Amino acid sequence: MTDTNNDPKTYSADELLKENENLQQSNTGSLSAMAEAKTVAVLTSGGDAPGMNAAIRSIVRAGLNTGYRMLGVRRGFHGLWRGDIIELNSRSVSEKLQRGGTFLMTARSLTFNSPEGVKQAYDMCKVFNIDALVIIGGDGSYHGALDLSRLGMPVICLPGTIDNDIACTDYTIGYDTAMNTAMEAIDKLRDTASSHERCSVIEVMGRHAGYIALNVGISCGAEVILIPEVEHDFNRDVIKRLLECRNSGKHHYIVVIAEGVGSAVEYAKRIEKMTGIESRATVLGYVQRGGSPTLRDRQMASLMGVQAIDCVKNNRLNRVVSYRGGQIVDMDIEEAMKMTKTISLEEYGDAKFIAI
Ligand code: F6P
Repeated sequence: MTDTNNDPKTYSADELLKENENLQQSNTGSLSAMAEAKTVAVLTSGGDAPGMNAAIRSIVRAGLNTGYRMLGVRRGFHGLWRGDIIELNSRSVSEKLQRGGTFLMTARSLTFNSPEGVKQAYDMCKVFNIDALVIIGGDGSYHGALDLSRLGMPVICLPGTIDNDIACTDYTIGYDTAMNTAMEAIDKLRDTASSHERCSVIEVMGRHAGYIALNVGISCGAEVILIPEVEHDFNRDVIKRLLECRNSGKHHYIVVIAEGVGSAVEYAKRIEKMTGIESRATVLGYVQRGGSPTLRDRQMASLMGVQAIDCVKNNRLNRVVSYRGGQIVDMDIEEAMKMTKTISLEEYGDAKFIAI
């Protein structure tokens, strides 16, 4: 019903007290309401990613505000089959939005890879009367979710990984923060490479995917970018290119390689030996997985969390929440898992084109 009265509504002291009581109940969940409410559990799985906390917060608040009982599963799927599950209220997720990591903790569960492990996790969902399970994680976590859904456990997945390598989505939570962390580090490395006229070889994360390497390389003006998706010829693509850069007047060089390509230490040694350019290696490693999420990761995590609860509310179950064509959407998990995604070779070519 539309309120046609434009004056602000006034409340009596009694009405305000009652309103406050209702609010407190919805925040903590009264026992009688909890017995009837739908129960939604949330877990984070696989490698952590900045923004996972923002996603949990959003899911919990959106769930509570829809009238659900909210549970948090600690330590990913490992915690699920062990029943490591806690009740969450609105205050449990206060002060989490800006924090890196995941306060629910995460794990890479080997037990969950077996049919027995999946069945045990499914049984635990029944013990806790879980009606829907929201899983925030990467590709491996999506496979775990799919297994659970096939046993009859309704799931919703949110993409949480710094690698951006989930096929059904253009964006994953944590990707932006990781890239910004790497970019800031490489800017600093450039200062010292320039002072010493050296070649700085930087290994960024991405065992199977070069999204971080490609975009950080573009953003830092790397002379050479090596990614697992594109084969390279060391002499042609690294040595010849660095020598061309030197001949064009450059005095220092940035080489960005994804960890899936090889070791920065080895590359630096080979570059120095074959070009005579003094070279130093830096492995950025886990620093890329930590830290306070960027605006983009907080915003995407928050909006994706709301979409997850919207799926539960409207009975769109066994779905994955994705970012596609500039919009947050959801799609069937079976369909999503059949999708493939390829890195942009055009962008890879453009990066080369402007680096010399
Ligand atoms: O989170 C993704 C990722 O960082 C990959 O790039 C990397 O290969 C992997 O996780 C390593 O993570 P862990 O050592 O936790 O298995």
